[in-house]
Amino acid sequence: PVAKKIRIRDSTDNRGARVKVSGWVHRLRVQGKDMMFVVLRDGSGYIQCVLTGRQCHTYDALTLSVESTVTIHGTIKVVPEGKSAPGGHELVADYWAVLGKAPGGDDAFGSKLNAESSPDILLDQRHLVIRGETASSVLRVRALLLKGFRDFFDSRHLTEVTPPLMVQTQVEGGSTLFEFDYYGEKAYLTQSSQLYLETCLASIGDVYCLTESFRAERSHTRRHLSEFTHCEVELAFIAFDDLLDMMEDMVVSVIGSIMSHPVGSKIVAELNPNFKVPKKPFRRMNYVDAIAWLREHGIKKDVKDENDVKIGEADFEFGDDIPEGPERRMTDTIGEPILLCRFPAEVKSFYMKKCPEDRRLTESVDLLMPGVGEVVGGSMRISDLDELFEGYKREGIDPTPYYWFTDQRKYGTCEHGGFGLGVERLLAWLLDRYTVREVCLYPRFMGRCQP
Ligand code: 4AD
Ligand code: MG
Repeated sequence: PVAKKIRIRDSTDNRGARVKVSGWVHRLRVQGKDMMFVVLRDGSGYIQCVLTGRQCHTYDALTLSVESTVTIHGTIKVVPEGKSAPGGHELVADYWAVLGKAPGGDDAFGSKLNAESSPDILLDQRHLVIRGETASSVLRVRALLLKGFRDFFDSRHLTEVTPPLMVQTQVEGGSTLFEFDYYGEKAYLTQSSQLYLETCLASIGDVYCLTESFRAERSHTRRHLSEFTHCEVELAFIAFDDLLDMMEDMVVSVIGSIMSHPVGSKIVAELNPNFKVPKKPFRRMNYVDAIAWLREHGIKKDVKDENDVKIGEADFEFGDDIPEGPERRMTDTIGEPILLCRFPAEVKSFYMKKCPEDRRLTESVDLLMPGVGEVVGGSMRISDLDELFEGYKREGIDPTPYYWFTDQRKYGTCEHGGFGLGVERLLAWLLDRYTVREVCLYPRFMGRCQP
């Protein structure tokens, strides 16, 4: 019979049939003169192929190397008891051909990369690294996660928008803005799409976006990128508690969607066998209690001189920003997700609403996860026009280019709030990766803009 062209993922359904599979040689094992085992990869899965007899004697067979592309015709047979193969079956070849040869010898695929390669080499060769099992598994879960977000928002009737990424306003402080020349005018790569989402409330109601944000982060940390995928949400006519509920529901739902997916749950089990599925309600903690917790546990803040050089240590005090290290030590010790609430206004952004019960504080929240720390940041927004102008003033922001954002308070204001989740941080936590760089297709951070 004519071989039916299939993808490897459909092998089980085609057991017994004569098929044609094309892909990359993932692994290669030669057994004697008359038998070769090729594990073939086509992006949809892996299948073991068996070449025998004359098929192993050709020039192509004798010089075959991993990462070559081949096409193999044959019959899918269940492997006998005691033999193992991916999927429990193998493709017994009756014809095969090389489509694209990969080099052997000094230039062979494996010679560029191995378990001891330095992180820099791995990043230079990222286009080859993503062919590997771990990297491709991570990318697969990343795709499931993005779908999980969209499914969740859809179930809650939020509408997706794609705001501009080239902007003339800052959202999260001037120090991390990427500036560029926009036809002779100054413009920036967006730090967050929040301000644009706020303008959508009066148009299409509750909204979200899943798009890139950019930060000129100068510190090399495990969790900072120059370009990251930002899942942002904005909701109208809500109170602070509604915002916290939405955050919890979203995280529980997207993790649930991955854990109930056959591929997703398998990869999580492989990469993060100790993963604890988070359950509602998350622990809620106020900023003031976090400061007390840090003091009680003897976790200190660095004291620095005017050149940012550490000259000593001191106890945390009200008003301090909680930096990455102490934040992570606290979260790791507590060992579960924490909704850290009500930060002082001076450590947070200009647009955050003050707490009615204590005007030093804001209705703000960070979701902290063990191993990573902050994964989500959000708040209720200032809904009052005059108060917004005070916010601009406090942060030294010229309100002129923000006229469209300000107008939201002028033409029918409403209590509203939202948050932004760093997709890479959530993935690093879910898949137990040491840095967020491992969960990007091609990471961007200071010192790296290629491949
Ligand atoms: O806490 P951030 O700065 O908050 C905002 O941008 C808000 N405007 C979001 C909103 O309310 N719509 O960033 C939100 C999240 C962080 O919690 C973190 O997960 C991620 O974005 N994030 C980064 N991820 C990787 N690299 C960076 N440099 C990041 N900066 C922020
Ligand atoms: Mg933040």
